Amino acid sequence: MNEPDLAQIEARALADVRASSSLAELERARVAHTGRRSPLAAALAGIGSLPPERRGEAGKAANAARRAIEDALAERERELEAEELGASLERDTTDVTLPGDPYPLGALHPITQIRMEMEEIFLALGYRIADGPEIETDWHNFTALNTPEGHPARTPSDTLFVEGRPDRMLRTQTSPVQVRAMEREQPPIYLIAPGFVYRRDDVDATHSPQFQQMEGLAVDEGLTMAHLKGTMLHFARELLGADREIVLQPHFFPFTEPSVDVQVSYVDKAGRTGWLELAGAGMVDPNVLAFCDIDPEAFTGFAFGWGLDRLAMIRHGVPDLRMFFENDLRFLEQFA
Ligand code: PHE
Repeated sequence: MNEPDLAQIEARALADVRASSSLAELERARVAHTGRRSPLAAALAGIGSLPPERRGEAGKAANAARRAIEDALAERERELEAEELGASLERDTTDVTLPGDPYPLGALHPITQIRMEMEEIFLALGYRIADGPEIETDWHNFTALNTPEGHPARTPSDTLFVEGRPDRMLRTQTSPVQVRAMEREQPPIYLIAPGFVYRRDDVDATHSPQFQQMEGLAVDEGLTMAHLKGTMLHFARELLGADREIVLQPHFFPFTEPSVDVQVSYVDKAGRTGWLELAGAGMVDPNVLAFCDIDPEAFTGFAFGWGLDRLAMIRHGVPDLRMFFENDLRFLEQFA
């Protein structure tokens, strides 16, 4: 047999190994140049059939070629592994300096925003926040609030009753929370009670069968109408602006005596001035104190109820109450 050209076998193998650009390609080069069917394997196998005096040298040369090829394979393998690791690190890196993907963030409803501001104002005056159920008893919503049998508010045309339970209704006002607080504790009492109330009203631009009020109650020794007026003025200025004035207009509520409408001044864009009725209020009727086992000879109190929806309409110049409930994002996003 002819002596194989080991220099050429080695040169071709090394060229292929060095040209391999991936571990998979390198594996193919390994099989082609060192596998059972490779020229190198054939050369090694052929050594036995050489004339004996040639075998030693040919064997050495063949082994040297094999070692050179294997070294080259090992070296190229290390290089390619390092490259692939680098490339995968590159692919998987997170650039923390890039701007993030925008995450759609909601916002509080405009009426909720106003409720929270109102709470802050009264909390700063030492009031606490009280709560009551939206399904009320006849006693808390009407009777203990000095509302006589036969009062129009007690009829199904004004009030939403629970079917089959004439003594259970959706509360028509937050005032029953006054009763619940006074039944539980003795004065001094300073509380606000925001929440939903329900009336049998058709929906239009200024009415809804469901709306929100914020009740207030102060019962203590020596409270007078002056305290009520000062509190309402302070509140109106904190919430709506320091240039606001208020007037108390005589009114009637069964559970306050005297009763008033709180009117707050406004100036419109054209410079016209006027008054807005924004709350009902008054001195707690002694009958109500007595119903709740608070001594009307020892204590007096005042109460008030603000309409949140109305306040939000005025603050934002919203002409139609329904816009607050239609859940149109184009409307709501303006208050975010
Ligand atoms: N509850 C009354 C209403 O809904 C408002 C009010 C509250 C009046 C407290 C006086 C005192 O109209």
